[in-house]
Amino acid sequence: MNRDSSIGVFDSGFGGLTVVRSIRQQLPGESIIYLGDSARCPYGPRPQDEVRGYVRQICSWLTGQDVKLIVIACNTATAAGLAMAQQEFDVPVIGVVEPGARAAARATLNRKVGVIATQGTVDSCAYSNAIRARDAGVTVFSTACPRFVEIVEDGLRRSDSAIEKMTADASDVYLRPAFQEIARDYLDPLKKIGIDTLVLGCTHFPILAPLIQQAVGEGVRLISSADETARDVAQTLERRGQLRSYAAGPEGLRFFTTGDDLDDFCGLARRVLRVDDIDVSHIDLP
Ligand code: DGL
Repeated sequence: MNRDSSIGVFDSGFGGLTVVRSIRQQLPGESIIYLGDSARCPYGPRPQDEVRGYVRQICSWLTGQDVKLIVIACNTATAAGLAMAQQEFDVPVIGVVEPGARAAARATLNRKVGVIATQGTVDSCAYSNAIRARDAGVTVFSTACPRFVEIVEDGLRRSDSAIEKMTADASDVYLRPAFQEIARDYLDPLKKIGIDTLVLGCTHFPILAPLIQQAVGEGVRLISSADETARDVAQTLERRGQLRSYAAGPEGLRFFTTGDDLDDFCGLARRVLRVDDIDVSHIDLP
């Protein structure tokens, strides 16, 4: 592979598009190949070794596409498979947990940090270990919020508006009484504990930021790892002399899904990334 090769990014579905968006903002010249493993979404409730197998399979497929770097844009897959992928593949592999943990350790003042994520990520203790490796005095309170993944998927499929509109404070897509009650159930205990920082430890969750912010209160700082991860990607490519120096053409974005939801995927990618010309293909992983 060389500096003109693509960056490979994957997630269990389309949550990782929030990371692609940040990479494109910081590195507009790079080509990206994105794989959404929609046929096996959600990863959150699955055993770690099963998810690790998926990570191995997808990294093999991406290296077959000659990518120069892989981003595991899914916290559950990062927790289960990042170490394995870094050991088994020749290209650099970057996950989303460490960048989010770093930002949280930097942001907290009272050293009480909440983490909301899938069950798999919470059970792995990946965030508490990573945050406490930076500051062992931080207390981390983790809560699994599986219904948030459902809410995001459902809302994205139902609405035609651009993501910016959906996540605006006035949006009624997610600020509905039923969703607000679910958010309160998940987040009230964290609010009562007095956290000052909350990690959105699932790549689907930044899309729910207004709903989450409303439930925990304005005083709590929300951390999404997307921007930090994109910074890690930029620094890694720069260090290796592999940054592309010219703007990617229309062929700069290629999307693949293991699901049958090509139209959904295409619509969602268009809205998250604000790009009209999006081409999505189906692939079967063996
Ligand atoms: N996007 C995945 C993550 O960041 C969660 C969705 C799933 O359960 O597959 O953990």
